[in-house]
Amino acid sequence: MLPAFRRAVSHYSIMEAGNRPIGVFDSGVGGLTVAHAIRQLLPGERIIYFGDTAHLPYGDKSEEAIRNYSRRITEFLLGYDAKLVLIACNSASASAYEHLLAEFGERVIILDVINPVVEYCASMNYPRLGVIGTKRTISSGEYEKKLRVAAPSTTLVSLATPLLVPMIEEGFIFDDISNAIIRTYLSDPKLSDISALILGCTHYPIIRNQISKFFNFNVEVVDSARIVAARLKETLEKHDMINGGEAGEDIFFVSDFTDYFEKIARMFFEKSINLQKADIWS
Ligand code: DGL
Repeated sequence: MLPAFRRAVSHYSIMEAGNRPIGVFDSGVGGLTVAHAIRQLLPGERIIYFGDTAHLPYGDKSEEAIRNYSRRITEFLLGYDAKLVLIACNSASASAYEHLLAEFGERVIILDVINPVVEYCASMNYPRLGVIGTKRTISSGEYEKKLRVAAPSTTLVSLATPLLVPMIEEGFIFDDISNAIIRTYLSDPKLSDISALILGCTHYPIIRNQISKFFNFNVEVVDSARIVAARLKETLEKHDMINGGEAGEDIFFVSDFTDYFEKIARMFFEKSINLQKADIWS
């Protein structure tokens, strides 16, 4: 287990209340991939989701800006009495995880998406591994730093793929435009000979099939959603916080309305969702 995760849980002292919700946030629709995996694995849990669509994409923002957004969103989720806050965004995990732990770690369990994926990859002992992500995630070097410690024999190659988030948020998936962008990025010689590729952005599972197809299904595509949901379940079990009662209604907040958010949320959650705008920035 990585030190940052150990610290996140050991500071936590309130042992009550399975029926409190899980807070999940991202810049937009990306975190829905993780929220969906949580819903599959833990059908009794209630999710309060925050998509910061007013500030999308995070991947182009400064570390300081992302930290400030993440702090405010965490406060908002604590206002809903979240028992756990999941940073379902790699850019925010890379920029703000340690800061959120320092500021809120005594009050709530905080999980990120990078540490569980690094631990999974370390257990797989890949000889050569790729990671694609936003400019913020890749320039932070967080995957390299953590993998160097957890899996010293694995070579990691990193590639920023900044057009993918706007492409997905604009609804360009399974079409010629997205195929051309994906092919252009993934043809980078750096990615030759990899045995696995980390989707280092929670938006990317939405185009996972296109990515797998590019590699003729010969490269394992490591998608954080299931790995992170499994870590979250273990964490709730460890703290005796699994909800034993009714799940209650999930609420999806956005800081700005976009048609696409609702469309993707409905696609993942297969029902009409409670979608609300929360103007937490004014
Ligand atoms: N889904 C996010 C991530 O994992 C956000 C990307 C963005 O807003 O640029 O990094």
